[in-house]
Amino acid sequence: MRILVLLFSSFLQLCYALDAIKKGERLGVSQTIVSSGGHFELGFFSPGQSKNLYVGIWYKKISVYKRTVVWVTNREYPISMSFNSSCYLSINKDGNLVISDGRGMSYSISSVSTRSSTSATLLDSGNFVLRDTISNEVLWQSFDHPADTFLPGMKFGTDKRNNRTWSLTSWNSLEDPSPGGFSTVLDTSSSEFLIMKGSQKFWTSGRWNGVIFSQVPNLRLNDIYNVSFVSNENVTYLTYDLHNTSMISRSVMDTTGKLKKYLWLDGTKEWALFWDLPRPCQVYALCGAFSTCADMQIPNCRCLQGFEPYSLRDWMQQDWSAGCVRKSSLQCGGKDLFVLVNNVKFPVNFESLSALDSEQCKQACSRNCSCNAYAYKGNCHLWMGDLLGIEQLERGDYIFLRVAASELQLINSGKADNHLSSKLN
Ligand SMILES: *[C@@H]1O[C@H](CO)[C@@H](O)[C@H](O)[C@H]1NC(C)=O
Ligand SMILES: *[C@@H]1O[C@H](CO)[C@@H](O)[C@H](O)[C@H]1NC(C)=O
Ligand SMILES: *[C@@H]1O[C@H](CO)[C@@H](O)[C@H](O)[C@H]1NC(C)=O
Ligand SMILES: *[C@@H]1O[C@H](CO)[C@@H](O)[C@H](O)[C@H]1NC(C)=O
Ligand SMILES: *[C@@H]1O[C@H](CO)[C@@H](O)[C@H](O)[C@H]1NC(C)=O
Ligand SMILES: *[C@@H]1O[C@H](CO)[C@@H](O)[C@H](O)[C@H]1NC(C)=O
Repeated sequence: MRILVLLFSSFLQLCYALDAIKKGERLGVSQTIVSSGGHFELGFFSPGQSKNLYVGIWYKKISVYKRTVVWVTNREYPISMSFNSSCYLSINKDGNLVISDGRGMSYSISSVSTRSSTSATLLDSGNFVLRDTISNEVLWQSFDHPADTFLPGMKFGTDKRNNRTWSLTSWNSLEDPSPGGFSTVLDTSSSEFLIMKGSQKFWTSGRWNGVIFSQVPNLRLNDIYNVSFVSNENVTYLTYDLHNTSMISRSVMDTTGKLKKYLWLDGTKEWALFWDLPRPCQVYALCGAFSTCADMQIPNCRCLQGFEPYSLRDWMQQDWSAGCVRKSSLQCGGKDLFVLVNNVKFPVNFESLSALDSEQCKQACSRNCSCNAYAYKGNCHLWMGDLLGIEQLERGDYIFLRVAASELQLINSGKADNHLSSKLN
């Protein structure tokens, strides 16, 4: 009898409350491992109505109906649901974590070379760590291979020693974790962090000034978490920690190109959005050239005075990226005029010139036919070529925009669209 009880209890231990996978063990579709403090759970899952199986990590305490996946491997190598009875996760002969469909195909999660024995443990931080069981050395960890979610303690940046980058990539859709259109990159040369849409710059944080990124004031110190930016000869990365480690928080690169920070509210059992970015007008060149952007205005984009949409059809469908073009072409040679565009954030990419006053600055712009605007603020700012990223603000700077003299006659006679406050210079 005693022997039976002993056998039975050791059997129970094998089946329940495991936080690790050891060599020779298999985790099937209906089995999971749970981190020792019960924060995270790892196993097979199938998002929404998807017919595919993935191995991922989610919060243990959040109900399966709101299951929030923070990491997924085999994003590009899903296993068909029809293998649900035969597939499993295990550590293979050479010590690597692999997913097998049970019918001859397998996907290797880690690819380390080791001769010794390994085991993989799910930690309460959400990190899944493969170690050498003798030396205890970390051979591979899920935190080095983020999916779309940035958890406290993760790194975001690059390790120059092995050219590893830590970055987030959105899911394709809520039911498809394969890599989607948006990703984050830390540009180590300029110390700014970017959201990329494919290979195009979608948003930039501005440079790290030692305390914050210039465009992201809400990343600064607050009651909930502290952010640090580490840069030395070996690594450049951003990381954050929660002051109260019992809180649950995550940042996710979502399928629409927004980076969202959430806090879990225990009372209502809901995720609360703490912040998201970018604002519409922070999206790089959202409105294209020669237009202004306002977050609270519908639509967000408007053409500058004397300009009209390049493609009215795209513009009406809220694709403003082609921007606006002049209604009347410039004559140059000092024949054009300048109109005031007030309360704006300066367009990107100006050239600075030392000039005595506004008049000299105007002359400098006037002389060069590729100069489309100028502003005199301490020194002379000239905008050559396209004007991009003009944000309309409650209170801001002003620029003088070059327009054809014929446009100005229309404006004066009230026939032009007159949505910006303007006056003659
Ligand atoms: C496998 O899929 C079938 C059909 O969808 C389902 O009835 C069964 O419960 C699944 N088995 C596991 C272990 O999830
Ligand atoms: C990292 O990449 C750079 C440039 O791509 C290359 O010169 C360097 O050898 C690489 N270093 C390692 C450790 O792979
Ligand atoms: C950079 O890496 C080298 C080799 O791993 C190490 O000796 C050195 O202390 C590291 N430097 C810093 C600043 O961590
Ligand atoms: C955040 O602050 C805690 C102490 O409050 C400190 O232990 C931790 O290293 C800090 N983390 C970062 C990323 O600065
Ligand atoms: C930390 O967070 C937990 C869960 O939200 C809360 O119960 C606890 O009171 C917090 N502790 C402190 C010191 O704020
Ligand atoms: C006008 O400015 C552009 C850009 O700065 C410059 O390349 C070009 O040479 C200038 N043209 C004249 C006529 O000064």
